[in-house]
Amino acid sequence: MTSRRVLYRGAEAEIQLTNHMERPAVQKKRIKKTYRIKQIDDRLIAARTKEEAKLIAEARMHGVSVPIIYDIDIEQGIITMEYLNGKRVKDIFNSLTQEGRRKLCEHIGESIARLHNHDIIHGDITTSNMILLDDRVHFIDFGLGEKNGELEAKGVDLHVLMEAIASTHSRYAGCFSYVLDGYKNELHDDAAAVVKKIEEIVKRGRYR
Ligand SMILES: Nc1ncnc2c1ncn2[C@@H]1O[C@H](COP(=O)(O)OP(=O)(O)O)[C@@H](O)[C@H]1O
Ligand SMILES: [Mg+2]
Repeated sequence: MTSRRVLYRGAEAEIQLTNHMERPAVQKKRIKKTYRIKQIDDRLIAARTKEEAKLIAEARMHGVSVPIIYDIDIEQGIITMEYLNGKRVKDIFNSLTQEGRRKLCEHIGESIARLHNHDIIHGDITTSNMILLDDRVHFIDFGLGEKNGELEAKGVDLHVLMEAIASTHSRYAGCFSYVLDGYKNELHDDAAAVVKKIEEIVKRGRYR
């Protein structure tokens, strides 16, 4: 009998700590919505689970650190993956040295560019969805992700992080520019066009 411990329970998913072939693993189980028609809910859960696992696997192929996928149960909406026993970037971000924070942000930007080079949109880039382990930032939670090559999608993806840093780490809001430095270094396409898009999204928000 494998033991299980609930690590996290959110509105969309529950994360349980378990074992997979003697290795510490987590199971991310999507929570059923009783207010939705069952057939629709089942189909949505299956589609999101499949898409999330696919994006995680693809991100890994392109050199972005993500948990190893051990198993997927599409019908049950469960992804079993490597347990990343590290620190959430959210919890350590403010206590780094300024130089450490700059390095970390550049590293984050490079990883995002690697995703965007292959049209992988994460969908929820926040410091809660990054785990620092072995000096590498691992991206988790591709639950809102998609494949999309449009400038708009890439701009929005980065803008979410800009807002997340501004709200969760407000003293260090300026660090987003280091994210962009890393992004520019690693992006194959013209990063200036994406930066322009972000500025446009910021303006749009202001006049809404
Ligand atoms: N592979 C993992 N290793 C370690 N912790 C994880 C892992 N996956 C998720 N977690 C923890 O569970 C939390 C919620 O998981 P997440 O995939 O972000 O779900 P949600 O979509 O509900 O935000 C994360 O913030 C993290 O603390
Ligand atoms: Mg999350």
